[in-house]
Amino acid sequence: MLVLYPLKLPWCSRMGYHVPHAFSYLAAASDAAIGRATAPGGKKEGGAPHKNLKIIKDEDVRPMMGAFVRSLGVQCTYCHVQSNFASDENPKKETARMMITMAHDLNTKFPDGKTHVTCYTCHRGKSIPETDPPAPMQQ
Ligand code: HEC
Ligand code: HEC
Repeated sequence: MLVLYPLKLPWCSRMGYHVPHAFSYLAAASDAAIGRATAPGGKKEGGAPHKNLKIIKDEDVRPMMGAFVRSLGVQCTYCHVQSNFASDENPKKETARMMITMAHDLNTKFPDGKTHVTCYTCHRGKSIPETDPPAPMQQ
């Protein structure tokens, strides 16, 4: 599954099968809603602990950032200022937070509890998704 769908968001793909994790995600989201910049519980990965997580969990940072880069066809600095990943100075980072929440909300509308909508579903390797279908082919 993960090999076939490498762009699935880790917290989404777990949600369908692992209800407690889904609840811990919701708890993290409500922390964000009340403006607390806490890293939701869970073990730290190697290296410095993350300082400014409002939505995602510590251990999801690495796989999710990789998925963002591949889904939007961008570099890390598209959303981050150089060499300070915790900074919110780049406004694309806040847009990305809104998108994470939006994708999560869309997935909760599907009755089967599975992850159907990821960043890649809309973005397809572009920072701004295409809205209009291609023009009709010339005969
Ligand atoms: C599409 C935008 C986007 C891209 C591209 C992106 N990030 Fe992020 N990154 C975010 C967002 C949003 C957060 C904060 C998530 C939250 O608040 O829970 C974040 C958080 C982080 C953090 C945690 C910082 C802290 O201390 O709080 C690290 C580290 C990080 N990103 C590394 C990377 C790396 C490395 C890359 C490139 C491989 C990358 N990011 C690409 C949006 C992005
Ligand atoms: C339902 C479709 C959809 C999904 C899912 C989606 N996006 Fe977007 N995203 C858009 C659209 C449409 C725009 C362009 C909005 C505009 O033109 O202002 C956009 C714009 C953005 C931008 C700003 C690009 C720019 O240069 O202004 C970022 C960053 C972004 N999305 C990140 C993400 C991330 C990260 C995910 C996955 C967590 C995601 N998006 C999931 C539709 C989506």
